[in-house]
Amino acid sequence: MPDPFIQVEGLYKVFGARPQSVMDQVRGGKSKDNILAETSHAIGLRNINLSIDKGGIFVIMGLSGSGKSTLIRHFNRLIDPTEGRIVIDGVDVLALTQKDLEKFRRHKMSMVFQQFGLMPHKTVIENIAYGLSIQGVNKKSRVEKARHWLEAVELGGYEDQYPIQLSGGQQQRVGLARALCTDADILLMDEPFSALDPLIRSEMQGQLIRLQEKLQKTIIFITHDLDEALLLGSRIAILKDGELIQEGEPKDIMLNPIDDYVAAFVKNVKRANFSAS
Ligand SMILES: Nc1ncnc2c1ncn2[C@@H]1O[C@H](COP(=O)(O)OP(=O)(O)O)[C@@H](O)[C@H]1O
Ligand SMILES: [Mg+2]
Repeated sequence: MPDPFIQVEGLYKVFGARPQSVMDQVRGGKSKDNILAETSHAIGLRNINLSIDKGGIFVIMGLSGSGKSTLIRHFNRLIDPTEGRIVIDGVDVLALTQKDLEKFRRHKMSMVFQQFGLMPHKTVIENIAYGLSIQGVNKKSRVEKARHWLEAVELGGYEDQYPIQLSGGQQQRVGLARALCTDADILLMDEPFSALDPLIRSEMQGQLIRLQEKLQKTIIFITHDLDEALLLGSRIAILKDGELIQEGEPKDIMLNPIDDYVAAFVKNVKRANFSAS
């Protein structure tokens, strides 16, 4: 078996003044609430072990505060762990020098955020091309590429608009085009559709599925919505209070929810969506 594309081993993240001082209690299994009450440290993640294969949509799901954003921010080291290891495509990301880390962030991964994160004073095309300008790509190829991705997200004609002139759905298409424009292998998507109206959201999900069929990126997609997870995910990991509760194919989650927390998600699923997929 080849090594997994992304491997997370024994990952812990404790927020607070002296994370190491509470690690024994964290490892010992004391609850997140008790640790917070007694030590003012917040458990972000507790002993996460995950293998993610190349070329699928890997969904991370859980309620608000369960550690989803904390987990994916470790992948590009926006957050450093208290303990643990992350290996991506053979690279131990915690061992990267500052310079290599910058290169890794620019070329290997791109991120799509819930609140779009577009630069308000730049036009649509400048926003999309921004990552390439950081990479040092010349203006002509930048604009050519950015136009290509603008078309791919069906926003041809909007190049000179400013973000504020676009609807939420259109802004997130720009966010997606910007992420795709750098040719990164890995897309980190942190609740990218959660701020959108249901209809627009459903269109965006369809567009992501169509793009992914062509592009075969490795997509890490965060959601708190199991319907969305089932529609998009080739695998789904469920987090609760910073712990990985269950991981598997959508049908594993649906047919064999491991505990009441997962069962509660499953109970609320629109069954029609599941049988149709
Ligand atoms: N910078 C931080 N400082 C302190 N606590 C944090 C910080 N970031 C996240 N947390 C805590 O870590 C937990 C997980 O947060 P987060 O990853 O944002 O959850 P999610 O994305 O699933 O909503 C929460 O309890 C949150 O309060
Ligand atoms: Mg979050």
